[in-house]
Amino acid sequence: MASVGAFERVIGKRSTPVDPVWLEQHSRRYGSVELDIGTGDGRYVLDAAREDSERLVIGVDAVAGNMVESARKASASTRKGGLENAVFFRGGAEQLPGPFFDLADWVTINYPWGSLMRIVAEPDTDALRGIRASCKLGAGLRILLNYTVISDRPYLERLGLGALVDPVDNPSLNSAYKGAGFVLDGCQIFSGDPPVRTRWGRQLVRGAARQTLSIEATAGAARDAQWDET
Ligand SMILES: C[S@@+](CC[C@H](N)C(=O)[O-])C[C@H]1O[C@@H](n2cnc3c(N)ncnc32)[C@H](O)[C@@H]1O
Repeated sequence: MASVGAFERVIGKRSTPVDPVWLEQHSRRYGSVELDIGTGDGRYVLDAAREDSERLVIGVDAVAGNMVESARKASASTRKGGLENAVFFRGGAEQLPGPFFDLADWVTINYPWGSLMRIVAEPDTDALRGIRASCKLGAGLRILLNYTVISDRPYLERLGLGALVDPVDNPSLNSAYKGAGFVLDGCQIFSGDPPVRTRWGRQLVRGAARQTLSIEATAGAARDAQWDET
């Protein structure tokens, strides 16, 4: 399968090559699979896995270091609070689907920055196709963006994202997502508490009039045929 080698499973401080057969069999034990891309410290994954033991929650991030503690907690024995339905992988969103082909019923991307922000907000249709290929038909995608950053041009320029068009005003957003095989369901700004408890979500709203942009989409039928051959 294409680019499986671009991902490693993170189990505490240890990283191991991905075993796609294990992943496939493990995912079949659960009623649904959620993929959290750019998971950061992985706390969201632990919370979601605890909340619903019938859901396998997979955290993926380009940087392994921040998720080490959550990955260690998840891999402890269940007697000691371990969670068999929370698993972590190091790898870039650009390398998707890798071992996650056609696996996810639900994809979350919470408060991305850097290249992940560019992929979803610019957006980068090629990389979105890889995300789409990780989804089952009809899967939901919810992206939460720090909207305060998007409206701060000088800051965006410092991040190397000066060319980014505000997704709310971007007439091409719909067609870019459609080209990747997603049907855009909504693009909405809201203030106050974020709908999910993530480290960055809380940091961003705390004590300030921060705004969050939510982009929601559904994985439609136009999945890129290239992935079907892998
Ligand atoms: C602001 S943090 C948000 C972390 C977490 N989702 C949260 O809400 O607390 C952004 C995360 O995106 C990850 N990231 C950035 N670009 C990425 C990419 N291309 N692929 C995967 N992860 C990426 C970073 O390593 C970082 O952990």
